[in-house]
Amino acid sequence: MARLVINTKKKVSKINKEIYGHFSEHLGRCIYEGIYVGEDSPIENVNGMRCDVVEALKEMKVPVLRWPGGCFADEYHWKDGIGPKETRKKMINTHWGGVVEDNSFGTHEFFELCEQLGCETYINGNLGSGTVQEMSEWVEYMTFEGVSPMAELRAKNGHEKPWKVDFFGVGNESWGCGGNMNPDFYANEYRRYQTFIRDYKTGEHIEKICCGANVDDYEWTKEVLDTCFRHSLPFQHGFMDGLSLHYYVHPEGWDVKGSATDFDETVWYKTLNKALYMEELIQRHGAIMDTYDPEKKIGMIVDEWGTWYTCEPGTNPGFLYQQNTMRDALVAGITLNIFNKHSDRVKMANLAQMVNVLQSVLLTEGEKMVKTPTYHIFNMYKHHQDAELLDSHMETKTIGTGEWNVPNLTESVSVAEDGTLHITLTNLSLEEDYEIDTTILDKAVSQVRGEIVTGEMHAKNTFEEPETVTVETFDKAELTEGGLKFTIPKCSVVHLEVR
Ligand code: AHR
Repeated sequence: MARLVINTKKKVSKINKEIYGHFSEHLGRCIYEGIYVGEDSPIENVNGMRCDVVEALKEMKVPVLRWPGGCFADEYHWKDGIGPKETRKKMINTHWGGVVEDNSFGTHEFFELCEQLGCETYINGNLGSGTVQEMSEWVEYMTFEGVSPMAELRAKNGHEKPWKVDFFGVGNESWGCGGNMNPDFYANEYRRYQTFIRDYKTGEHIEKICCGANVDDYEWTKEVLDTCFRHSLPFQHGFMDGLSLHYYVHPEGWDVKGSATDFDETVWYKTLNKALYMEELIQRHGAIMDTYDPEKKIGMIVDEWGTWYTCEPGTNPGFLYQQNTMRDALVAGITLNIFNKHSDRVKMANLAQMVNVLQSVLLTEGEKMVKTPTYHIFNMYKHHQDAELLDSHMETKTIGTGEWNVPNLTESVSVAEDGTLHITLTNLSLEEDYEIDTTILDKAVSQVRGEIVTGEMHAKNTFEEPETVTVETFDKAELTEGGLKFTIPKCSVVHLEVR
């Protein structure tokens, strides 16, 4: 029997809703086909946005959406994507499949999408091939209300009122596709570019995200912070609100990656072991951030994460289209539990990517759409958004095969404003169910309701069989004198709501 102890008196940190954020890039069929089909499409849409996709995403509660990239961001010139569609420039999307980008989805369309989703906006600016003027004018175009060339241009293009930009990324992967910069060079560029991202509306601050490290490049984190905070501005308000981190799980490594659907038990544990590595990355980058920012004012922004497999056979390799199985459900459940547990430092995270690319929550084919196992995890975990993380401890044991060891269980617990507890647990084992004796300190519990996502490790949803993996009722939890008792089945993710 495993023991789980929850201390309801000890609130650890707020789980920012943005930890449940998403990312949509001009890549493959994410934006075009996946989200935006255009007003004239036979697929049901509102102002070009697919109704089925918007409805599913609203149910799952998307808190924030990052756009337009990714690598695409540092080649994107925003003025190409405004004005009458027939006059918008066409370009080659050199990063992703060499296809024609017709710019029919631009700034106005992005804000329309976010309005339909009811979510916050995270724009990633072009530092790699754009100028300070271009970046600064984009911010003026989006947010300035008054007399100015960009505000007039926006009005001329049909939007009198400014929009709200919640977050702004100053370059993407500037150590790689965003310009192959050295940390010191990038940090100086960051200092310069961010200066011209103005807060035009009193009381509305655009949170600025500085480009952080790739995986375990701790030197990048250190040098960027060093240069940014040298001779400066010690914590001039809004100089830097976040520092990003990118980490993808490639089961077999960057070159081969591995199949999304065809894997054995060893690769199962290897994938989960790699997903768990997120915790070490947060701790070690976090420790460096602590030396510059002990009060944790700068958020760690994990704005690209998820599984990255070899793309589906027969699809364009530049489109990064992959299936999604119970293994992805476990990766999502484990990673979101890690983010919750580190919500004192992790302030936003954006799964890559929202539709049809990498670890998507939705897949589309023509007018058909399926919710992936990952979708169902985000839907179950949505109750953690803006709740308070509670101190909790789970007894675990090590399982796995050979060098690919993992703990058998992971968990996180939050309390909502109305006092309801939300417990999310993952069972990583392919063989064993575990009985869990839960002690809930300082709370009399009278009601428990549960839901579960479970299945065989390869189980997936297809356009022919869209409901193989779905959320089912879990009514196995019983109230005890001190809390709860239940058995978590092997290969599953569970959510318990306790009152
Ligand atoms: O998400 C796919 C790509 O991965 C992004 O464009 C880039 O930022 C990262 O390398």
